[in-house]
Amino acid sequence: MENHCDAIILGAGAAGLMCAARAGQRGKRVLVLEKSEKPGKKILISGGGRCNFTNIGAGPANFLSANPHFAKSALARYTSRDFLKLVESYGIAWHEKTLGQLFCDGSAQQIVDMLLAECAKGPGEVDIRCGEGIASVQHDGDTFTVKTQNGSYGAAALVIATGGPSIPKMGATGFAYDLARQFGMKVVEPRPALVPLTLGGEEVLFREISGVSAPVVATANKASFPEAALFTHRGLSGPAILQVSSYWRPGDPVSIDFLPDRGDGWLIEAKQSNPRATLKSALREALPDRLADILAEKLGITTEFGNVPDKALRAAEERLARWQFTPNGSEGFAKAEVTVGGISTAELSSKTMESKRNPGIYAIGEAVDVTGWLGGYNFQWAWASGVAAGEAL
Ligand code: FDA
Repeated sequence: MENHCDAIILGAGAAGLMCAARAGQRGKRVLVLEKSEKPGKKILISGGGRCNFTNIGAGPANFLSANPHFAKSALARYTSRDFLKLVESYGIAWHEKTLGQLFCDGSAQQIVDMLLAECAKGPGEVDIRCGEGIASVQHDGDTFTVKTQNGSYGAAALVIATGGPSIPKMGATGFAYDLARQFGMKVVEPRPALVPLTLGGEEVLFREISGVSAPVVATANKASFPEAALFTHRGLSGPAILQVSSYWRPGDPVSIDFLPDRGDGWLIEAKQSNPRATLKSALREALPDRLADILAEKLGITTEFGNVPDKALRAAEERLARWQFTPNGSEGFAKAEVTVGGISTAELSSKTMESKRNPGIYAIGEAVDVTGWLGGYNFQWAWASGVAAGEAL
């Protein structure tokens, strides 16, 4: 067997590179096989090219998983502060945009360069080979054999770091799940997350205000996010919607509070202070005009406040605080930033990410059923799970 090493890592993305760097620094000989022509492609396009590389407040509560406790150990042992320290040690300038989200001042390329430099540090050896599509993976005795179009490689350990199927245009596939299943590991049904939702039926009316956004509180399945919602030509997007999309399932409603800062009875107060005002004019004070107009129209209150009974205003207020949309779908994996679901955490050690039923196989990053909120959390999981496996290889 040619090319024998301590571990083969499949995928040179965020988690794979972090894992390789950590193992290499522990003296291991590691081979990273990447099917794309270059490493870290998703890092390069992330955060609008500036990479939202972590969230300073990242903790287990910011993640979805069938087992919400699973991520605790890895996240506690490699925190966002640890990653920030690494970023600063490379002199990479950064800033906090909002809600603890940390971005490079310059370019996401700096993060990829940093990870490659970490891989090159030694004393071990990290060999990253791009353009290596995986033809087969076999386990025979103590050795994993990975065949590509270019050769056959053997190692004592195998790390699945090939991510999830979001953005197939970039070559993303469900390869990690197929491989896990080949070794008898369970996979939690994957579905698109951090994804725009689509509207049909009568709600298509809202498509007329495509491009309008407003700060709201969006809720799906009891998960609420106070951020901006954006109306699009297909339905709903913007951070608040992307966040709730991870909790949303087909058929579920999404509830939007359009006026989270207004206290109870604000419409009746508006009527008392100006009985000649209309619902449309009152809403225009708080919301973008086009949104105010469509909401007023849908509520069917067109006359001056003085002519509207308090009861009707209370009902309008109630609807504005809990406006129910019933999306008819999402924009799918084509537009999803991440995947909810993946290799079941029940299969893995939360300390090392090693398979319980297949010692020697590890799974890290987005391939695993741990999914972060929007805002740097997904990279933090990639770093933390990569370090956990890299320490154990
Ligand atoms: P990742 O997808 O990074 O890497 C997997 C690697 O495996 C890829 O290089 C792939 O080519 C390779 N591969 C796949 N199949 C293979 C095979 N069969 N053989 C060999 N190699 C194979 N998150 C965040 O925290 N902050 C942000 O700013 C953003 N922004 C963002 C923007 C966009 C447009 C997207 C799509 C996603 C984000 N994310 C994000 C999410 C983030 O990119 C994602 O969670 C991590 O990249 C996951 O890291 P992984 O290493 O697990 O997978």
